[in-house]
Amino acid sequence: MSFNMNDIIYKKREGGELSPEEIKWWIDGYVKGEIPDYQVSALLMAIYFRGLSKEETYTLTAAMRYSGDTVDLSSIKGIKVDKHSTGGVGDKTTLVVAPLASACGVPIAKMSGRGLGFTGGTVDKMESIPGFRTVLEPDEFLAQVNGIGMAVMGQSGHITPADKKLYALRDVTSTVDNFGLIASSIMSKKLAAGSDAIVLDVKCGDGAFMENLDDAVTLADLMVDIGYDAGRRTVACITDMNQPLGKAVGNALEVQEAIDTLKGRGPEDITELSERLAGIMIYLGGRADTPEKGFEMAKDALESGTGLAQMRRFIDAQGGNEDIVYDYSMFPQAEFSEELKADKAGYVSAIRARQIGLASQKTGAGRETKEDEIDLAAGIVLNKKVGDRVEKGELLATFYGNDPAKVREGLEEAAKAFEISDEQVERPELIKEIIGL
Ligand code: URA
Repeated sequence: MSFNMNDIIYKKREGGELSPEEIKWWIDGYVKGEIPDYQVSALLMAIYFRGLSKEETYTLTAAMRYSGDTVDLSSIKGIKVDKHSTGGVGDKTTLVVAPLASACGVPIAKMSGRGLGFTGGTVDKMESIPGFRTVLEPDEFLAQVNGIGMAVMGQSGHITPADKKLYALRDVTSTVDNFGLIASSIMSKKLAAGSDAIVLDVKCGDGAFMENLDDAVTLADLMVDIGYDAGRRTVACITDMNQPLGKAVGNALEVQEAIDTLKGRGPEDITELSERLAGIMIYLGGRADTPEKGFEMAKDALESGTGLAQMRRFIDAQGGNEDIVYDYSMFPQAEFSEELKADKAGYVSAIRARQIGLASQKTGAGRETKEDEIDLAAGIVLNKKVGDRVEKGELLATFYGNDPAKVREGLEEAAKAFEISDEQVERPELIKEIIGL
């Protein structure tokens, strides 16, 4: 069936609903290079203002999901459970959650992304382990999950090419922040990646796409509906991203914090979130009768060290030296560091996540364009979290990197992120809502 792109743009501009055939047609034509960027840009802007109905969102998700290769995980025994975070600052939960859930018998066959802008990506973090391979052949990936229970690799280039092209276009046409477009983008990748169930960590706060709870709930509801429409059990947790998660921000630093967490020595927030998310995965993976029981199992895996043992197996299987979990000098080391001290006494009332993400990027830990090289040792370690008491001159954070000018730039950027108040401040609630359980 053939349509006219101008008619489709006009229909959406006037608030009409696109038919499934129209959506499939323009996605297909765009991937093949038959419809130019300028027409798709116009359509995206019309969608931005008019929105997408549920049916349109489901069809768009499916069209993007099948625009390239899809992963067949049927040769892996058991209920495969995937986890996805909508992106935040200091979010290293995958590196804790995956070993915990797989230590409890849930097969994890996960594809992860790289960081861009002020948010990090699991693939970059894993590459801070010398020798660690994030590119695996499909057979090797499946064999590893069947062998040790987990594998995490970078997303292959042939999965959801429609999303890749559309996301790049949205990025330069101010059309990223639309519910239907975000939900279909994320869910098309998750569905193409083949797991049977999906746990979504929808970040909410100044360091996330969704800055307020209402918007985060709308997005989470939509993604859960898309998951169920496609026959996948899907649960979304809405979690705080007003301050960085944990204390470390930056690739090697975050992997070390993930390992510390698996040793039972991690910051409270990352420990709690990892146990909760892993608990839901264990439940969805059929290894626990209730999410609460799953949580207890995840906690146990952390406390008994079986999660850490699984992390060691995982590092070894993908080419790293598993002893790195006991010897952090094997990680890339930063040559320079600087300290930020409090200019007054009081209570830390804000550590703006977005600002810290930008500061970390400035130290060299993040990239501005996809082609930028990153400094794997660079980043920030916070010494305080929101709610903590601080004295004048006390350490707030340390900045690391291999370029002293960048380390300084990071410190100057981060200084704006901190607020200290005279009154005592409540610690923010970490898990705000769970949808789809
Ligand atoms: N992450 C994605 O993968 N897509 C979006 O549209 C937004 C965040």
